[in-house]
Amino acid sequence: MTQDELKALVGRAAIDHVVPGTVVGVGTGSTVNCFIDELAKIKDRIAGAVSSSQKSTERMRALGIRVLDANEVESLPVYIDGADEIDHHGCMIKGGGAALTREKIVSDIAERFVCIADASKLVDTLGRFPLPVEVIPMASGQVARRLRALGGQPRLRDGVITDNGNLILDVSGLSITDPAALEAEINQWPGVVTNGIFARNRARLCLLGTAEGVKTLEF
Ligand code: 5RP
Repeated sequence: MTQDELKALVGRAAIDHVVPGTVVGVGTGSTVNCFIDELAKIKDRIAGAVSSSQKSTERMRALGIRVLDANEVESLPVYIDGADEIDHHGCMIKGGGAALTREKIVSDIAERFVCIADASKLVDTLGRFPLPVEVIPMASGQVARRLRALGGQPRLRDGVITDNGNLILDVSGLSITDPAALEAEINQWPGVVTNGIFARNRARLCLLGTAEGVKTLEF
C-alpha cells in the first residue's frame, strides 16, 4: 500500500472514534484531510467540529460540516489529528503544517487525543523530524540562539506565516529523550508561542496504518 492509501485507511478508521451527537476536534494535514472527507459523510450525525487551522476550516465548510469557534464549546470528547512523529508512549512532534498552536489549544479542550498516522511516523525517540517552534517575529533571533545553545540547528521556515501571524523555526539535531521536560523548557522562553512537542497533551490512542491494516496502539 502507498503512504496515501495508508492515510486514507486511518482516516476512515477514525470515524469509529467520533461520538455521535457531539462536537469533534479536528486537526490539520494530509491524513486529517482523509478523515474530514469521511466525516462529511456522517455530518448529520455530529453537532459540528472545532478546527485547528484555516485550511481544515475551509475544507470542512466546503463539505458542509458545521465549524464552531473553540470558545463556543466547554469540552470535546475527542480530538483527531495526525503527527509528524509519534513514540511508543504517545508523545508526538507536530507542526509540519504550521498549525501546532491551534492544534495544542483544541487538543487541550478535548478529553482524548486520537492520533492517525501511517507507520512511517512511529519512532523510538522523537527528534529526527525537525521540531517546529512558533515564535513571535521580534523574538526569532533570541529564540534561535537559545535553541542553538541546546544543541539544535534552527532554521526559519521560508515564506510561512502561521494562522496567528507568527513565524516557525524548524529545529534539527535534537534527540528528544525527555519530551515533557523539553516541551516545558522551550515553552517558557519569552516570544515562544508554543513548540511542536505534544507530551503534556499526548495521544491516548494511535490508529497506525500498516501494510497489514490498521493497528491500534493504546498509551
Ligand atoms: C500540522 C500537523 C500534522 O498533523 C502533521 O504535520 C502530519 O501531517 P500529515 O498528515 O500531512 O503527514 O502537525 O501542523
